[in-house]
Amino acid sequence: MDRRYLTTPIYYASGEPHIGHAYTTILADALARFFRQEGHDVLFLTGTDEHGQKIQEEAARREVAPLELCDQMAERFKAAWHDLDICFDRFIRTTEAEHVRVVEAFLQRLLSRGHLYEGSYKGWYCVPDERYWTEKDLGPGQTCPDCGRPVREIEESNWFFRMSAFQDDLVRHIEANPDWIVPEVRRNEILGFLQKPLGDLSISRPKSRLQWGITLPFAQDHVAYVWVDALINYFTASGALPSDPAADDPGWEDTAASWWPADLHLIGKDILTTHAVYWPTLLMGVGLPLPRQILAHGWWVVGDTKMSKSLGNVVDPLQLREEFGTDALRWYLLREMPTGQDASYTPERFLTRYEELANVLGNLASRVLSMTMKYRGGVVPSAPGSGLDGAIGVTLDRVEEAVAAYRVHDALGAAMDLARDANGYVEEREPWAQAKDESRAEELDETLASLARVLVVLTALFQPVCPDRMGELASRLGLAGVPTLAEALEVDISGNEVAKGSPLFPRKDR
Ligand code: MSP
Repeated sequence: MDRRYLTTPIYYASGEPHIGHAYTTILADALARFFRQEGHDVLFLTGTDEHGQKIQEEAARREVAPLELCDQMAERFKAAWHDLDICFDRFIRTTEAEHVRVVEAFLQRLLSRGHLYEGSYKGWYCVPDERYWTEKDLGPGQTCPDCGRPVREIEESNWFFRMSAFQDDLVRHIEANPDWIVPEVRRNEILGFLQKPLGDLSISRPKSRLQWGITLPFAQDHVAYVWVDALINYFTASGALPSDPAADDPGWEDTAASWWPADLHLIGKDILTTHAVYWPTLLMGVGLPLPRQILAHGWWVVGDTKMSKSLGNVVDPLQLREEFGTDALRWYLLREMPTGQDASYTPERFLTRYEELANVLGNLASRVLSMTMKYRGGVVPSAPGSGLDGAIGVTLDRVEEAVAAYRVHDALGAAMDLARDANGYVEEREPWAQAKDESRAEELDETLASLARVLVVLTALFQPVCPDRMGELASRLGLAGVPTLAEALEVDISGNEVAKGSPLFPRKDR
């Protein structure tokens, strides 16, 4: 069976899950579900990023030990993902013993291959972003050019990774693999960045400044830079655990038994450089294959500004979920944002998207189920039910093509169009008129059977975005669970007893 290993970023354990985290994770979840439906064996990884200055300072502020804060926050993220129906296979925490061991082995191997050296660093540091900046990068009034918050001046001894030595190889890799970074605008951004000489990367912090991190195995007075520690999580979770950091350990050379390399790193565009420059060069340093693809999505914005906790303009996804349900939130986030672009959150757009669910999909289900109750005693009639086969075929092609290109918003748009076509079919066939005329009994059977069949296909198509409601609809159609797409096309539901139930997506007042 074909395998797919996909990852989300691991989120800082210093703050609550918010809509930005939820978006990346729901996107990964929907893709994981589409891949499983297509019959792939999937490893879907998410987790928390638990070391570094940001965590150390937040723990101090709350007067708790850093690990205690991380324990609490890891549970918060897991609970949020549970509430949002995220079906991850592995939740990694960077404080796990297994991860610590892999990071140590990774760094030791970089050292033994001659890619690390000791030096001194003088410059500026943004704690919220955990990023170094040089004087000329800074924004007005000595602020971070990325997030606008104040930076700190730092002068200290650091260990450095000879990242500059891999610049040419990286450029060649990106040029030879046009789809390695998608969308193209992000690929061009990185190629542009790589036109300037690449510096070396500071990979450690002296313990005099930061204690909360993984101690370098060869320098007890330093901890690993949190981004290096964090990126390695993708390798740790692949299970390709080299038992010995020695250069000739077979664990490094043979990753075939593990999930490495990852097929897809899903990230936000703000963390592209770390994933498309630091990470691949580090992997080249230890001699591991590179991830197959990086997809950088856009931001949820309010007006022109990124939604972020520090800007205080964040929408609490869990609040929307309480009002509209998990599936409605997932639908909004995935249908509204074209993968790769920014999207603006507004309550009006949320309602408009919700109404699509209620008035098109929900309405279709309710009409079909109640007509089956009313005209055929709740039993799906036995008839070919091929009235919508043409529309189904077109939809499946559109969905397959869109998912392959990660255009999840288009895949969902295609699925909703099928529900629209099915509503059109109801209007056209007028089952209420067919029911009035005994001589048209066969026509009515065909209408109801076609509609029941399209509902089965819709449960499969909407399952990656609305797993809860589609589970409910499948059970109302007398099915044991939501079928895969292939099963949905095969299943014969004539004779099934259906149940009407309350609206799948209750109407909301504007
Ligand atoms: N810990 C690092 C990632 C390490 S991965 C090896 C980190 N964590 S984070 O908690 O800041 O979360 C980052 C993720 O949330 C990114 O994918 C980022 O783009 C996403 N979002 C944060 N705010 C966002 C929006 N307003 N809109 C969409 N996603 C944004 O960075």
